[in-house]
This record gives sequence, C-alpha cells and structure tokens, in this order.
Amino acid sequence: MRILVTGGAGFIGSEFVRRQLNSDPAVRITVLDKLTYSGVEANLAPVSGHPGYRFVRGDICDPDMVDHVMAGQDAVVHFAAESHVDRSIEGAGPFVRTNVLGTQVLLDAAHRHGVGRFVHVSTDEVYGSISEGSWTEEWPLAPNSPYSASKGGADLLALACHRTHGLDVVVTRCSNNYGPYQFPEKVIPLFITNLIDGSTVPLYGDGRNIRDWLHVSDHCRGIELVLRGGKPGEVYNIGGGTEVSNHKLTGLLLDAVGAGWDRVEYVADRKGHDLRYSLDDSKIREQLGYAPQVDFAEGLAATVAWYREHRSWWEPLKGTASRG
Ligand SMILES: NC(=O)c1ccc[n+]([C@@H]2O[C@H](COP(=O)([O-])OP(=O)(O)OC[C@H]3O[C@@H](n4cnc5c(N)ncnc54)[C@H](O)[C@@H]3O)[C@@H](O)[C@H]2O)c1
Repeated sequence: MRILVTGGAGFIGSEFVRRQLNSDPAVRITVLDKLTYSGVEANLAPVSGHPGYRFVRGDICDPDMVDHVMAGQDAVVHFAAESHVDRSIEGAGPFVRTNVLGTQVLLDAAHRHGVGRFVHVSTDEVYGSISEGSWTEEWPLAPNSPYSASKGGADLLALACHRTHGLDVVVTRCSNNYGPYQFPEKVIPLFITNLIDGSTVPLYGDGRNIRDWLHVSDHCRGIELVLRGGKPGEVYNIGGGTEVSNHKLTGLLLDAVGAGWDRVEYVADRKGHDLRYSLDDSKIREQLGYAPQVDFAEGLAATVAWYREHRSWWEPLKGTASRG
C-alpha cells in the first residue's frame, strides 16, 4: 500500500509512520509536512533509511504541491494541523487556513487522483464539552475553541466529500494523546520538562477539567484498524478509557518526579475551557476489534522516563513552546 501521511513529522503522525514502516515491509510512505514549529524531522530519524520512506517538505494548502505528491497514492492519512488550543485563542487565522482550507485541498486532490481511502484524523473536541455520559459518533458537533471549530469544519468537509463525490473517507475522533515525542507545549510534556528543570507548572483554574487520556501507540493502532477495515463514510471514536482531572494528573506527575505541590502555580483559567471530554468508543471496539493496550499509570511512567532520557530532543524546542 502506498500511503501519503500529512503532518508525519509531528507527535502522532511520526508514531504512525514509525509503526507502519517497522511492521509492514510492503508499505510505501510519503510524508508531506511543512515543518512548522511543532514538526520535527528528527522524529522520523529512526526510519529515515527505510527504502519505503520518502519525506517531502511542503504545505497542504499548496494545491500544486499536493497534486504532485498525491499522484499514485492508494491512501491518505491526514494528521497535518495547527493543533494547540491556546495558540488558536491567541490567533485563529493559521488554524482556519491549515485545518479547514488545507483539508479541502487534500480532499480535492484525493478525489481527482482516485485515491482509494482517505483517513481524516479529527478530535473528540469537535463534540464540545459533556458534563455526564459519553459521546457516541451520532452526537452533534458543538466545538468551543477556534482550534476545535476549525477541526469540526474539516471533519464535516471530509464527510461531505464522501457524500457528494463518493471519495472513500473515514473519520476518526480520538481523545487526548500522550507519549514520547509530544511537543513540550502540551500539558503532559510541558509539566514533565518543567519539573525535571526544577521550575513550576501552570495549572489552569482549579484543575477540575477532565480529559480521557489515550496513549499515542493505542491511537495509532486504532487508526490502522480504521485505515484497513473502516466502512466508507463512517466516523469512529477512539478512546483511552482513562478519565482524569487535571488536578489528579498534576499530582501523578509531581509524584513521578518526586516534587511537591509548592511547584504548582495556579493560573487564570483558559478562555472557554471545556470542562469534560468523554468518548463512547464501543463502535470501533465491536466492529474493528479495537482495545487500548497501554495502562495509564505504566504509560505515564514510561513517558516521564522518555523525557528524562531525551533532554537533547526537547530542550531546543522549549524556547518555541507557548504556556500549555
Ligand atoms: N495531540 C492530541 O492529543 C490530539 C488529539 C486529538 C486529535 N489530534 C489531531 O491529530 C493530528 C496530529 O496532532 P499532533 O498532536 O501530532 O500535532 P503536532 O502539532 O505535533 O503535529 C502537526 C504536524 O503537522 C504539520 N503541519 C502543520 N501545518 C501544516 C501544513 N499547512 N502543511 C503541512 N504540514 C503541516 C506540522 O509541521 C507538524 O509536523 C491533528 O490533526 C490533531 O488535530 C491530536
């Protein structure tokens, strides 16, 4: 299978590319990535010598570039995005451009070239916030941040391309990812690297916001299942099954590095901060045999160990990270 992976130099995309090339000798992967602040080509160094791997630096909003790399592909797995909510609150323009317009450029090219499958990687944040119960795939989209609204727009454009033009689109909506190679502006790597460095961590509001945490390897296992077995035009939630408040998460990270609550700085809450995310992922479990394999406590401990051992990876990136 020849797969075009957009955003393959980012956190989740690079995990997907490394996994595919290490597990399937027949796969051929072209990564298309603009290498924005969060794209790190070194994330793909472990597979850079693989004969099935090709890297193209380019923008998904550039129709000529996209047309060129789309030729001959069997499938697209679309990760490329502006991905940080706080940055979208400071300025939504790049989010609308990449997440909405860039997705449409890819869909148009995939349709034109007769690509067999288009996996659009969306997010549970398109559902908004839920105080009790869990979202199924039928839940209406009600995103609250510029980031999630731009992802919601892209999600609907992808489904519209299936219904209107018959492109074989499948959409995944996953919960919050954690694991190695995550850019140190996101809460888990931000907190770990601040604590390793002896500084404080900024906890939003009273820390009662709840997130469902999903290890990046489990997420990529789910995407593989959808890529190979998902039904055209369908949406699949991918959850981690671990709901944790930010307060509890902070306590776990403090314990993991042997630090106390004096290292926590309570800061003004994020504007429009969603209170709780909760996914019902029984559809992918029942239809495609998905089950997360990484226990949260073990995955978190391994993630802390990874950041301890990879200071040379994250230290140069810290200067470009926003607050978290
Ligand atoms: N991280 C999470 O917890 C999470 C949760 C749900 C969904 N998602 C979605 O998963 C996808 C990947 O997220 P991530 O955390 O790996 O993000 P990331 O910020 O680590 O990586 C994004 C990648 O996209 C590239 N990129 C950005 N704009 C581009 C453009 N215009 N053209 C080409 N490449 C471009 C960047 O260079 C980077 O390599 C995103 O679509 C995101 O919305 C992430």
